[in-house]
Amino acid sequence: AQTVDGHGDTVLDAGDIVGGNDSPGTETISAAELAEIGLRFEVDGEIATIILDRPGKRNAQTSATWSALARIGENLPGEVRVVVVRGEGPSFSAGLDLGMFTSGGTPGQHSLATVATLDDDAFQRQVAEYQRGFLWLRRPDIVSIAAVQGHAIGAGFQLALSCDLRIVADDVKFCMKEPALGLVPDLTGTKPLVELVGVPRAIEICLTARTVGAAEALQLGLAEMAVPRDELAQAVQDLATALLATDRAAATATKRLLQGAPARTLEEQSAAERTEQAARIRALFASS
Ligand code: CAA
Repeated sequence: AQTVDGHGDTVLDAGDIVGGNDSPGTETISAAELAEIGLRFEVDGEIATIILDRPGKRNAQTSATWSALARIGENLPGEVRVVVVRGEGPSFSAGLDLGMFTSGGTPGQHSLATVATLDDDAFQRQVAEYQRGFLWLRRPDIVSIAAVQGHAIGAGFQLALSCDLRIVADDVKFCMKEPALGLVPDLTGTKPLVELVGVPRAIEICLTARTVGAAEALQLGLAEMAVPRDELAQAVQDLATALLATDRAAATATKRLLQGAPARTLEEQSAAERTEQAARIRALFASS
């Protein structure tokens, strides 16, 4: 079997545990390991915050970042209902660590040259593992919010797209740079991008690798709200508070219903509404 160098998906530390753990036997990732990768994870009651914390490298991401994100998702404390993803420093994220184009770089990162040697099955498994770090942010029982300032390039743009909602600072610069580097966006970003802006605009944004600023992001539906840079944290906090005011079961059922709507006919969606409502009404009257 082929293996990829690095330790991003293997090294765990049962001590110095970050957050809680609702799955006995599933190990969480340590704060020390997260720090080495350039991440922080904080839980404050029902709100968890994932912080990209390599500001000196503009929060560039490696394979270790993605494996760690997956592990955070697997071990998310049960009480968490809102997950905020934000970046330290001037930029949300400069995307793929360009060190991955070479064999050197930061701890835990796989070089693209090594990944290129994998056979088809191993390659599929490896990239699916990277994508796991992004996909859990759509879980119906949580709402994920990306707080995006400065550059959100490539994997940074895709990480923002993997969240349910995007609050941006007025200096935001989204850029899907992968095609310009000979790659495709493969960290789960193409579907949400197309759903938000449509196929023609997505083609234009990706194939020109141009920058989308705050005003256009709002206009295209890439952002729910744009605020001055120094108001970003408060705007995210206010949104989280508003989201948490809604009953969790109703919020989860509603998110599940809305997420399923694009793939259903009107009749199928109406049936899904009936099913979710039956469970809601029964639960409401069972507890009253
Ligand atoms: N990887 C590694 N290091 C990076 C980086 C990256 N993607 N982006 C920035 N850095 C480093 C710089 O090398 C520099 O390090 P030193 O101080 O040690 O020299 C430091 O971060 C600061 O960078 P700048 O001085 O350039 O900062 P800036 O604020 O003037 O510019 C920027 C910020 C516009 C993001 C610019 O750094 C830049 O263009 N970076 C490259 C972006 C890029 O091409 N990313 C790849 C996207 S493709 C992708 O993500 C692929 C995928 O998912 C499959």
